[in-house]
Amino acid sequence: MVKAVAVITISDTCFKDNSKDTSGPAIADFIKDLFPEANLHTIIIPDEKEIIERELKYFSDTNLDLVLTTGGTGLSSRDVTPEATKAVIHREVPAISVAITLAGLKNTPMAMLSRSVAGVREKTLIINFPGSKKAVIECFEVVKPVLAHAISLIH
Ligand code: MTE
Repeated sequence: MVKAVAVITISDTCFKDNSKDTSGPAIADFIKDLFPEANLHTIIIPDEKEIIERELKYFSDTNLDLVLTTGGTGLSSRDVTPEATKAVIHREVPAISVAITLAGLKNTPMAMLSRSVAGVREKTLIINFPGSKKAVIECFEVVKPVLAHAISLIH
């Protein structure tokens, strides 16, 4: 059973103006639909590696089942979500990132530009999605069939 999930929007723009965040709410809606009984946390943070690491550690060290991030996976100098995620996970799950990329490439060659990481810290599965609403809709479809089983394996 999935008890608690966090959705973290990682974006300087959305941090300054929360109303610009459309991707975080889109993921939150998917989670409410898939795991209606889960306690859902949503936060918006800037593209700062230390802050991202701190929040990922906080949510995994407080035993959340799943943390989905959106944003900061690309190539600009402020995009540090993958580096922060790699710094905190204990085990990488590279095939999740591969599956996300392969599916994304069917929709747009721009999927090549995301460096999304997936992995496990303690008993928490962490998955990076890109920052656009279109991308998170596409990415969630990819991981949706495996989330419950992946989380049950970690516990
Ligand atoms: N993946 C999917 N499935 N669909 C998309 O539209 N957009 C891409 C890519 N991955 C996209 C996608 C684009 S345009 C960029 S720049 C990168 O994700 C990185 O996005 P981010 O820096 O907002 O995380």
